[in-house]
Amino acid sequence: MSSQFTKTILRLQLPTDPRWVNIAEKNIEEILVDHAYCEQKAATSGISLIVKYPDKTRLVEEMTDLVAEEWSHFERVLAELKKRGWGLGRNRPDEYVVELTKHIRKGGQRERQLMDHLLVNALIEARSCERFKLLWKNIQDEDLQKFYYELMVSEAGHYVSFVKLAKEYMPAEVVDARLNELLEIEADIIRDLEPRPDRMH
Ligand SMILES: [Fe+2]
Ligand SMILES: [Fe+2]
Repeated sequence: MSSQFTKTILRLQLPTDPRWVNIAEKNIEEILVDHAYCEQKAATSGISLIVKYPDKTRLVEEMTDLVAEEWSHFERVLAELKKRGWGLGRNRPDEYVVELTKHIRKGGQRERQLMDHLLVNALIEARSCERFKLLWKNIQDEDLQKFYYELMVSEAGHYVSFVKLAKEYMPAEVVDARLNELLEIEADIIRDLEPRPDRMH
């Protein structure tokens, strides 16, 4: 998975500051704790979508699978913490996700809101995938290397699924146009946030 992948498949407009991975590796306990909560939030977000759109059968089915997968990621991060003698620690607000979520438009067509929600989730998956790639390639710990590689592949799959799912409910050209807008917004958010030593985003 090259930087070409980041640009052409994930389509992220701004690569992560390369300093992030070096500082992250020195704070692996904090990174694991933050990561555990990222997985918890991904599962929670899938559950919220099910509850909000019970009439969308395809969405309900796909989110059911996704929630199970994200929850298994959560369990595995907990196990990595435990192996090292660490606990879960407290949840910290994820500024990146908070900023991105502000761009889910309220009101208007219900499907448009759903599309925004799915695309915001898609971008969180894409950025997480990019960060897992950096961790996989740069971290010294061999167990964690393997773990991050698997997660990179899994979150890339989720990114693609979220975009596809949005196209179930809105015309493809509308989804692509909104995705382009959100990709710009996402890059601006990343640009404004300092690379944090203790955060996944
Ligand atoms: Fe995950
Ligand atoms: Fe995911």
